[in-house]
Amino acid sequence: MRQLVDLVIFGGTGDLSTRKLLPSLFQLHRHNLADRLRRIVATGRVEMKTSVFRDEVRQNLKQFLPGGSWDESVWATFCDRLHYCKVEADDPDDYRELSRLLGEGEAPGRLYYLATLPSLYGEICRQLQGAGTVNDASRVVLEKPLGHDLESCRAINEQVGQVFEEEATFRIDHYLGKETVQNLLALRFGNQLFHPMWNNTFIDNVQITVAEEIGVAGRGSYYADTGALRDMVQNHLLQVLSLVAMEPPASLKAADIRDEKMKVLRCLEPIALDNVKERTVRGRYAAGAVSGKAVRGFLDEDAFHDAQDTETYVALKASIHNWRWAGVPFYLRTGKRLSSRYSEIVIEYRRQPFSLFANDPQELTNKLVIHLQPEESISLHTVNKKPGLASKLKLKPVELHLTDDSQNKQDSYDAYERLLLDAIHGDQTLFMRRDEVETAWHWVDSIINAWQENGTPIKSYNAGTMGPNAATALIAVDGRHWHE
Ligand SMILES: NC(=O)c1ccc[n+]([C@@H]2O[C@H](COP(=O)([O-])OP(=O)(O)OC[C@H]3O[C@@H](n4cnc5c(N)ncnc54)[C@H](OP(=O)(O)O)[C@@H]3O)[C@@H](O)[C@H]2O)c1
Repeated sequence: MRQLVDLVIFGGTGDLSTRKLLPSLFQLHRHNLADRLRRIVATGRVEMKTSVFRDEVRQNLKQFLPGGSWDESVWATFCDRLHYCKVEADDPDDYRELSRLLGEGEAPGRLYYLATLPSLYGEICRQLQGAGTVNDASRVVLEKPLGHDLESCRAINEQVGQVFEEEATFRIDHYLGKETVQNLLALRFGNQLFHPMWNNTFIDNVQITVAEEIGVAGRGSYYADTGALRDMVQNHLLQVLSLVAMEPPASLKAADIRDEKMKVLRCLEPIALDNVKERTVRGRYAAGAVSGKAVRGFLDEDAFHDAQDTETYVALKASIHNWRWAGVPFYLRTGKRLSSRYSEIVIEYRRQPFSLFANDPQELTNKLVIHLQPEESISLHTVNKKPGLASKLKLKPVELHLTDDSQNKQDSYDAYERLLLDAIHGDQTLFMRRDEVETAWHWVDSIINAWQENGTPIKSYNAGTMGPNAATALIAVDGRHWHE
């Protein structure tokens, strides 16, 4: 018999729950995908009746669900599943009350979703165990950031690991929940067309961009102590990189895929004092205009006056030291207050060894472009003959779309829906294993240490541009340019 699960959200009154988790759970319920889920118990620090919490959720869902998703009849049954329990992270009495609530009726599996301060994760797990609410069928989901560096990440993993086995620990990186990121596996391993050419014989370079228009207002001291490298590269960009670069796994089982991703992370060439200058660029936005609206610079924001050593942009040239990727640079970049919001992976193929065509301009290389947001799609950039009698054999760029747009729209879902569903079902494939997260921190720590030792300056860029000029130079010295 399939086991039912009670989901307990720590931080159930927070921003992530309000904007993402509860709307995603509503959508799963609406699509009849939540049959394994019994109750959703949200926790927060304030005393509140479940009926009041339900009213709040109702208002918030109307605001944050995608257009057309609100449905009164779906709410009527969804709201029966919602409960609220006040839990102060370090108060054993509150956990006794939670335990009493969870003990009502049959005892199903329990999924604890920690969407609160990571500094509380260890304490929450310890208290849950102390209250007797953890059993062999219990699992825990951990939101990012998992630490600030390798040492603090290890400390969290150790504390959580004293209560939950690795097989019961689900570390979220919501990028892995995106349909197109999973489609990457289908593309690579389901097509004979691409797989044989997925190596340094055919691929010239790989570019991964996560560009954001938003700034960091509202993220207060968290961002001041974090910066773009820790906030985005350590998790999202390195996870995407490892999926692009990994070897074919032995199967689609979680352990096999995670083993292959892990090997890529281990093969990343360290960036340290000897190469940090030519391999990295740090940037910080100054005042400018984004989408036609004037915005302040990072240091002009009240919360960030003193954050002189925090980058809001980073560009890197990474190398993977193995047979498949030797000599192929992986250029990564991410930043705030850039000219537009998009995330993409670009696989750029090598140039033809020789061109027969008179007008074969330099930029006409084949590229596979995987768009992750705002739209999810995959396109292959090729060339065709320029049509018409007037032009003989001249080339013209053509973009082939490899995704089925009608299907995409119909089946589109938020990454959190996918990840919540997988966590409820106990499937770890799209979650990060402890060794992956710690190896990624090890690599990032080396860069941060080198920046500190080297006194690497932070270059200014105007809000509304694509980052500092130095990022253009980082790739231009290799005779390449960013795909725009
Ligand atoms: N927001 C996002 O888009 C986003 C994206 C990715 C990852 N995350 C991660 O998700 C986590 C939550 O982020 P958030 O933006 O939702 O934060 P938030 O809006 O500040 O909410 C924090 C939540 O934690 C609860 N909380 C705080 N201190 C507590 C304590 N001592 N004991 C018990 N509960 C406590 C709060 O309860 P009260 O309401 O009662 O204070 C609230 O429910 C963080 O790890 C964050 O990095 C967030």
